[in-house]
Amino acid sequence: MIIRDLVEADIPSITAIYNDLIATTDVIWLEEPVTVEDRTAWLRSLRPDDAALAAVDDDGTVAGYAAIFEFRAKAGYWPTVELTIMVGREHRGAGTGQALMDELIARAAASGREVMVAGIDGGNTGSIRFHERNGFETVARMPGVGRKHGRALDLVLMQRSLTPADPEDDGSHAPRP
Ligand SMILES: CC(C)(COP(=O)(O)OP(=O)(O)OC[C@H]1O[C@@H](n2cnc3c(N)ncnc32)[C@H](O)[C@@H]1OP(=O)(O)O)[C@@H](O)C(=O)NCCC(=O)NCCS
Repeated sequence: MIIRDLVEADIPSITAIYNDLIATTDVIWLEEPVTVEDRTAWLRSLRPDDAALAAVDDDGTVAGYAAIFEFRAKAGYWPTVELTIMVGREHRGAGTGQALMDELIARAAASGREVMVAGIDGGNTGSIRFHERNGFETVARMPGVGRKHGRALDLVLMQRSLTPADPEDDGSHAPRP
């Protein structure tokens, strides 16, 4: 298993992972499958200091992917990134998500980010546990903000710091790197 940058040749594989999740879970709040063009546009929309990663098996199969990207569209949010991680159904529970998470955290910290945020479907207890194990804590639960097939869905917001706790922190922070 290697973790490398996600490239456009991976888009058909990640579109299949995404569409399987749309069809079989509430992880993604869409009801219809998306196209390869849609996922290509998503990849191209990432900024230079965002990151998109693929987890690739020895035989070249894309087992999962992940990304960090802009959290809200205002410059003042620069210390914060949102993340997404998706592992293909037949590859879950084998450490792929953990390997992707480790690299996302390393990339976000290396680009000077201080906070990571995840927005998770409230019923996705497996993912909430996975994020807790990675140092995230739940900071909000927003009841009924989503709908899928007529069902109301809650959004759980989780976040973790990327900087070590400083007991002498006076509240001032470094400027944007
Ligand atoms: C959540 C997810 C990214 C974790 O990746 P993974 O490769 O399955 O996880 P790892 O093998 O590294 O770690 C296993 C942990 O993942 C969590 N997990 C969540 N869904 C899981 C699943 N379907 N199968 C196995 N583990 C799952 C569990 O907490 C598990 O820990 P446990 O052994 O204590 O129960 C992955 O299961 C996934 O893509 N699930 C569906 C999509 C999703 O929920 N994405 C996150 C959206 S916010």
